[in-house]
Amino acid sequence: MKDKSFLMIPGPTPVPESVLLTMAKHPIGHRSSEFSKILESVYSDLKYVFQTKNDVIVYTASGTGAMDAALSNLINPGDKVLSLVIGNFSQRLAKISTALGADVEIIEVEPSQAINPMVLKERLDKDINKEIKLVTLIQNETSTGVTNDVKTLVSIIKEHGALSVVDGVTSIGAIDCKMDEWGIDVLISGSQKGFMVPPGLSFLAASEKAWEVHKDCKRPDFYFNWDTNRKSVLANSTAFTPAVNLIAGLKTGLEMIKEEGLENVIARHTKLSKGLRTALKALNLKLFVDDDKIASTTITAVLPPEGISVPDIRKILKNDYDIEVANGQNALKDKIFRIGTLGFVSERDVIMVVGALEATLYKLGYKFELGSGVAALIKYLNNN
Ligand SMILES: Cc1ncc(COP(=O)(O)O)c(C=O)c1O
Repeated sequence: MKDKSFLMIPGPTPVPESVLLTMAKHPIGHRSSEFSKILESVYSDLKYVFQTKNDVIVYTASGTGAMDAALSNLINPGDKVLSLVIGNFSQRLAKISTALGADVEIIEVEPSQAINPMVLKERLDKDINKEIKLVTLIQNETSTGVTNDVKTLVSIIKEHGALSVVDGVTSIGAIDCKMDEWGIDVLISGSQKGFMVPPGLSFLAASEKAWEVHKDCKRPDFYFNWDTNRKSVLANSTAFTPAVNLIAGLKTGLEMIKEEGLENVIARHTKLSKGLRTALKALNLKLFVDDDKIASTTITAVLPPEGISVPDIRKILKNDYDIEVANGQNALKDKIFRIGTLGFVSERDVIMVVGALEATLYKLGYKFELGSGVAALIKYLNNN
């Protein structure tokens, strides 16, 4: 049905009407005092969501822009980088580091697994001469729905002395990430995820230690340069012409997060995803990430039942029920489908996707007790 489409992919995520309405106004001058006030509010609220006292830079770029910004302001050719890879997006940090001329070593696990902190510790303990300059890692791997224990991993990296560069694109504003308390050095995210804003903005915060290391970066990127951009943050401005309407929308999105309270937002994501997992299990569907302890609370990857294809499931969900879920990526294409419960998502949405999935599977001839997923979900939501 026209205009009925509902996104349950891991981003872009649904955008609240109040954010859309804020963005629907005429653009305002980016050097005006009116826009400066918007930025003042945005910069302050971003610190709240990033759980940091560090300044948060806003780039007019997608999430990958902030990944690039993080690494191109730290790496000199030949630097040793350790990349913890659990899927496509954590691998991208390794790829960017390689493109910048770093000597990249990778610790990689099976796509349904998280990094074992002991494996990291063992590797860093061997680096007696402290050659490893920085470690890249991801909090929430979007391609698989696995969440790393960033708190423990970062504490190990800190003990060694290397910098930690953390991708929080599908976790910030949804999964707990205490930048300052946990000692994360560089943390990045993007607008089209937990922030409930369309794609186009990305964010970066760096610790004092990262700023010190940055001083020795010989050729930092021009557009993404930390110094130029932070100078503007401190002046409630931006270095270049920003996406003014998106930033106006971001102000509203951040205010919504503040109003609900970050802890409550995080708890909502936990409850909805756990309810979804309970429902999927009740339907006898196999979850890609078995272990509840490392299962993402923003993305749930599901295997199709025997004899039913992922494209068929996605097609019926979209054409008949106006719900979009994501396919797997690369080697996991057509092997899994991914349901996003990220950002502007409520109990209604999860009940809706489980109901629509049941209807889809019923049409495709899957043998199960109709209603069992929805029943398990409703029970879960009411008991938790
Ligand atoms: C965890 C993670 N990192 C990085 C990115 C890249 O962001 P973008 O596609 O906005 O460049 C994504 C995109 O989905 C992501 O999920």
